[in-house]
Amino acid sequence: MFNLILFGPPGSGKGTQSEKLISKYHLKHLSTGDLLRSEISNKTQLGLEAKRYMDKGSLVPDAVVIGMINDALDNNHDADGFLFDGFPRTAVQAEELDRLLSQKKTCIDVMLALKVSEEELVKRLIKRGETSGRSDDTNEQIIRARIEEYHKKTATVADHYQKENKVVMVKGEGGVDEIFDRLSKEIDRLKKLHNC
Ligand code: AP5
Repeated sequence: MFNLILFGPPGSGKGTQSEKLISKYHLKHLSTGDLLRSEISNKTQLGLEAKRYMDKGSLVPDAVVIGMINDALDNNHDADGFLFDGFPRTAVQAEELDRLLSQKKTCIDVMLALKVSEEELVKRLIKRGETSGRSDDTNEQIIRARIEEYHKKTATVADHYQKENKVVMVKGEGGVDEIFDRLSKEIDRLKKLHNC
């Protein structure tokens, strides 16, 4: 099994690169943002609760997302590995993820962290907001609130994995294919080492 976290602030390209990586490396994509948006479009109780936070650019409570990831891991016993996108986003989520994976006799092999300047993030998200229909892309204030939430609560998650020497920084600016090549090179190198 090979498990990786694709990490980075809102707009850094996690979703875009995840699509390409799961197809190349046959990983199961677990995006908490996608799972939450699906709950919202199905108008479930969980979705209604999550929407209140997402519309403001705030993080959804840990218990909600941890429950979703737990279910997703249980429902994908036969996966060759997981690509976590947008999770974990707090220290509590990281600890819980490690615990759930260790119950399954596996662990995170690597965190690939995309590095993109704040102005580039805002530019990308404002542009996407013109067509995406995502409530959290509608204006610059909410976009900046998401980035601030990342700095306040999420950036520290990298320290958690850095303690185990599992963080690799990757330049997230340039063309999509160019960034994909950089990520692929790291994965090819790390797969041989197999940390877990
Ligand atoms: P989530 O869905 O995870 O969104 P996000 O982290 O804000 O990330 P984005 O989807 O905006 O950006 P991305 O890094 O995936 O970049 P993308 O490839 O899309 O979370 C949304 C909300 O859900 C959170 O705010 C929170 O409320 C809640 N949530 C989710 N997970 C949670 C958790 N674990 N705990 C608590 N709450 C949680 O690209 C962005 C744009 O840039 C696209 O238009 C793309 O086409 C473009 N782009 C991509 N690459 C390039 C490039 N190289 N050059 C130019 N443009 C590019």
